[in-house]
Amino acid sequence: MSIDKNYLDKFIKATEQAAIGAYPFIGKGDKIAADQGSVDKMREELNSINMDGVVVIGEGEMDEAPMLYIGEKVGTKKGQKLDIALDPLEGTNFVAKNLPNSFSMIAACEHGNLFSAPDTYMEKIAIGQNLPKNLLDLDNGVKKNIELLAQAKNKKFNELTACVLERPRHNQIIKDLNDLGVKIKFISDGDVSGAISVVDPSMNIDVYLGIGGGPEGVLAAAALSCLGGQIQTRLVLDDNEIARAKKLGIKNFKKKYNIDDLIRGDVIFSATAITDGEIVDGVKDLGDKYEVSTFALHKDTKVVKKIKNIHLK
Ligand code: FBP
Repeated sequence: MSIDKNYLDKFIKATEQAAIGAYPFIGKGDKIAADQGSVDKMREELNSINMDGVVVIGEGEMDEAPMLYIGEKVGTKKGQKLDIALDPLEGTNFVAKNLPNSFSMIAACEHGNLFSAPDTYMEKIAIGQNLPKNLLDLDNGVKKNIELLAQAKNKKFNELTACVLERPRHNQIIKDLNDLGVKIKFISDGDVSGAISVVDPSMNIDVYLGIGGGPEGVLAAAALSCLGGQIQTRLVLDDNEIARAKKLGIKNFKKKYNIDDLIRGDVIFSATAITDGEIVDGVKDLGDKYEVSTFALHKDTKVVKKIKNIHLK
């Protein structure tokens, strides 16, 4: 079964409202207030949708997040049973510092079809469309994966570009890529858009790799799944996090999750930019109204669109 196509506009509105909620906090140095602004608006909007929804990826576990926590029911309870992954503000530093590429994001699958990742780190490797299924593997190491990718794309190593989150934990990956002559595009935050960049031909990114947030990995998988991209992930867990993962029903803590393990069946994805982004423009204050821009996808209806909407204040 597919997700009713009418839900796409509802989720777009939810990310638009969340982006508007964060807008007053752009450049104000307070990422917590910015996050709260977007959470409040997104929650209000989600609860007006006729659906029987549950947050599967959210702001954290119930005891640490007062709103939009994992397990929170959202919607009017009338309508389709949906599992929701959300990040009302992806890129809190970007909003606090008025830097590009912050988004409000939602992905929705039919109930039971979305991987419930704990809020821990996750290893990720993502590639774009038209490549052999499960081409790359986290256990291969950088060199073998780059060899496989170069061969599949018929490119030389120095014609490939990798996107990497700039963190000390990635020093070895960066060194390996440098040694191979692969060009690196560094990002300082925001690895959902980093991972999604592999399916946008205009961005010329061949592979995204490294460790980022687990919830962000599932959101990226939702978008990649609509666009024919691939991602493989593995949770990075310490002892305390293993206990949290167990609560979410995870038994094999070393499992490598391919895209079909993260997202099964149909999926809707909506990302509204808060600050200007490489994918779409940020929120614009037009006096008595806001203009908002969203990147929206629906897998089964093959919708891929970038849209601008106006919301009166
Ligand atoms: P927030 O919006 O929650 O601050 O996350 C930003 C982000 O860059 C994510 O995109 C990424 O997955 C994660 O943080 C990386 O975590 P860390 O900053 O701890 O390396």
